[in-house]
Amino acid sequence: MSENIRVLIVDDLPETRENVRKLLQFESDIEVIGQAGTGEEAVQMAAEYKPDIILMDINMPGIDGIGASQKISEMVPTAQIIIMSVQSDSDYLRRAMLAGARDFLTKPFGGDELVTAIRRVYSKRPTISTAPVYPQQRGGAGPVEAYAPVPEGNVVAVFCPKGGTGCSTVAVNVAVGLARRNYRTVLVDGSLQFGDVAVMLNLKPVASIVDLVERDTEMDAELIQTVVQQYRGSLDVLLAPPRPEMADVVTEDKIQAVLEKLRQIYDFVVVDTTSSLDDKALAILDSADRIVLLVQQNLPTLKNVSRFFDLAESLDYDAQKVWLVVNRASNKYGISVEDISKTLKRPIFASIPDDEQVVNMAIDKGVPIITGGSRRQPVGVALANLADQVAKELTSEAVPEEKTAEADKKSGGLFGRLFGGGRVRAGG
Ligand SMILES: Nc1ncnc2c1ncn2[C@@H]1O[C@H](COP(=O)(O)OP(=O)(O)O)[C@@H](O)[C@H]1O
Ligand SMILES: [Mg+2]
Repeated sequence: MSENIRVLIVDDLPETRENVRKLLQFESDIEVIGQAGTGEEAVQMAAEYKPDIILMDINMPGIDGIGASQKISEMVPTAQIIIMSVQSDSDYLRRAMLAGARDFLTKPFGGDELVTAIRRVYSKRPTISTAPVYPQQRGGAGPVEAYAPVPEGNVVAVFCPKGGTGCSTVAVNVAVGLARRNYRTVLVDGSLQFGDVAVMLNLKPVASIVDLVERDTEMDAELIQTVVQQYRGSLDVLLAPPRPEMADVVTEDKIQAVLEKLRQIYDFVVVDTTSSLDDKALAILDSADRIVLLVQQNLPTLKNVSRFFDLAESLDYDAQKVWLVVNRASNKYGISVEDISKTLKRPIFASIPDDEQVVNMAIDKGVPIITGGSRRQPVGVALANLADQVAKELTSEAVPEEKTAEADKKSGGLFGRLFGGGRVRAGG
């Protein structure tokens, strides 16, 4: 028998509480166990009833949603808090997240959105029975550190061993797509010397990863919040240094330390990378839970990607760690998408169509494709779907089995010879 998700609703307005309750009344797996009208009452009821989920308003008289979240995070760490707020509260919202809230809903929200958020946060709750272990283990001092039983987020690196394949484009759009789905997401420009993320999102490079690594002994959630830049209120961005030579201070160890810290704070850490496989790039790929490996339908890229797979094997990367994504997919090339799958003996995770006009316009304007005027073009839809697919794979409880390479068609010609498949088509 499955257990119900026990929910406490906190809002100073009785109508709001009632509306939220009504949205949940027909969900058989969700049970509203109480309502609180003030922050004080919320803390008291949380301690007494130990709800699984607390839907928390931010603006309340007395101790507000942030104060209440902080107290509850310390006292009842098993209770997962979802903030309910209006858009203009984004500053509070960030503080609430730091105070231990797990997710947020923007008012007004519908039943589907509410139920999805509740189930998602519930399914990701840390399964702990004894809360006090955490503060000592993590060695933290402040309230943010003290709450720490956050299940760790996922680091997703976008990589291609050949430059100009579309890493920055894909990384930016996937990050924006995840943030749009209300996942706490940070985009890291790991192309440390010549990062493009600031340009692609039209952000001024005020602070960068250098500001973090130079103060790495104080690197906590609060410092991170001052260094990342917010993009449209939902995505945080950690930019590359403004000058190439400044990248020197960002050593392999430091990059990994930054990623580990970010992983504790965000659901998703999306990292754009360079194509050169130096120690820094490898440090990023090592830290990553998943690598979105881009490939294009041309031989030089295919050759480099194939070599990368050899390397990945010698580095003992799990086969599931690498998701192969075809960028600029088109049927106008001699090498088909199926040929790529066949040659590399890997399934294709996704294909992004070729549309130079849309992609270049998005870059020139500094507006990501999936939020710009061309978002309904096939390339925009494919990028949005890729973000959803990443979320689905990494937030579902069980990792789905790997699909088998569907391509069982004959492949031949140049790449057959190049990759030792021995399938040389006569006259090929
Ligand atoms: N799906 C696509 N369709 C058409 N052109 C693309 C696509 N993705 C990338 N490009 C082209 O490739 C160039 C490089 O993209 P970018 O994302 O900067 O790659 P990278 O970060 O790998 O160097 C873009 O300026 C654009 O012209
Ligand atoms: Mg790039």
